[in-house]
Amino acid sequence: MATAQENLPTIQSALQWVRVGNAKQFEFTKSAPVIKPSELGANQVLIENHAVSLNPVDYKMATVNFANVKLPAVTGYDVSGRVVAVGKDVQSFKVGDEVFGLLNLDSSNGGGALQQYSVGEAEALAKKPAGISHEDASTLGVAFLSAMDGLRQVNIDSTTSVFIPGGSGGVGHFSVQIAQIRGAKQVITSASKDDGIKILKEQYKANDVINHGKENVVDRVLELTEGRGVNVVYDSTYLPSSFEKSTRVVKEGGSWIVLGHFGQEGSAEANIVAERKANLVHADIARYWFGPERAQLKTLVHDALLQGAKWMEDGKLKPYINKIIKLEDAENALHDIMQGKGGFGKIVVKIL
Ligand SMILES: NC(=O)c1ccc[n+]([C@@H]2O[C@H](COP(=O)([O-])OP(=O)(O)OC[C@H]3O[C@@H](n4cnc5c(N)ncnc54)[C@H](OP(=O)(O)O)[C@@H]3O)[C@@H](O)[C@H]2O)c1
Repeated sequence: MATAQENLPTIQSALQWVRVGNAKQFEFTKSAPVIKPSELGANQVLIENHAVSLNPVDYKMATVNFANVKLPAVTGYDVSGRVVAVGKDVQSFKVGDEVFGLLNLDSSNGGGALQQYSVGEAEALAKKPAGISHEDASTLGVAFLSAMDGLRQVNIDSTTSVFIPGGSGGVGHFSVQIAQIRGAKQVITSASKDDGIKILKEQYKANDVINHGKENVVDRVLELTEGRGVNVVYDSTYLPSSFEKSTRVVKEGGSWIVLGHFGQEGSAEANIVAERKANLVHADIARYWFGPERAQLKTLVHDALLQGAKWMEDGKLKPYINKIIKLEDAENALHDIMQGKGGFGKIVVKIL
């Protein structure tokens, strides 16, 4: 039997996902249903959401529905809040615990973060340390875990040079910090807006920031590495126009990391990486939900969440939150993100 806090509401505010496609996917409502504790799966928890961080996938999912979600539903996958009900087999959390983490990309049946109460899978959540705010903890989701997933697969030490195109984005600004924390010798990154370049240099102590809108990226990376190229590239842009450049600066024997479905055998980027005798590495957190790697959710996602929280507590990892908004404004913020106007780092929705 599920255990639950008494007097849970039956309706809630939500940015409901009502339509798949390019327009009018979302509708804000104050009367979306709250799932009943008795409907929770054995390993699920119901979370009272305090803060949610946004990602481009919140919008992209609504456009293509690659997880075959049953509508109406809710998108948003990065959450921090308080447990108000637990499924019958949940051992790791009890009602009242403060938790943060990643929600299932298949948000059918009460999932999705952009609402007041969300269903989460216990294995992809962790207890939130008291010293970290819900806003900061909510940023340790899709972007942070994608950064971790790529970089955990490569060696980084005091001899390693790393290039991270897209250092002003959610994934990029975490990747820059993780490479620094792991002791890379040199971390080169790129951004195109003056304020983003300034933040990378001043707040994240990135000395080598290339303006990808004005400078020749390949020439600059080679200049900064005395013609040698870098050991590791994590191209966090998701853009073939960037891959075309970043693949050309990885050293022989080095690694070129790419997100999601890019880098398939025979693709332009895979061919250049192969020509350069470098390794192609995939960062893809979706595989932990949908593939045989589901069994690794507990070790890879959960452990990475704990590591991120520890780094935050130690003052080593600092999420950049450029805006804190209300749930009513989340749809506009998602539009901004899709138009490249999301600003540096992360946008957080404060729900409670
Ligand atoms: N499939 C997966 O597993 C997965 C997981 C996470 C993310 N993603 C995708 O990866 C992308 C990045 O995610 P995010 O959360 O970091 O997005 P984001 O916060 O919107 O950041 C995107 C960044 O890309 C930079 N950028 C744009 N054009 C560029 C170019 N030509 N060269 C270098 N940088 C460029 C922008 O920097 P400036 O504004 O400074 O130019 C911006 O900061 C998104 O498309 C997202 O959907 C996929």
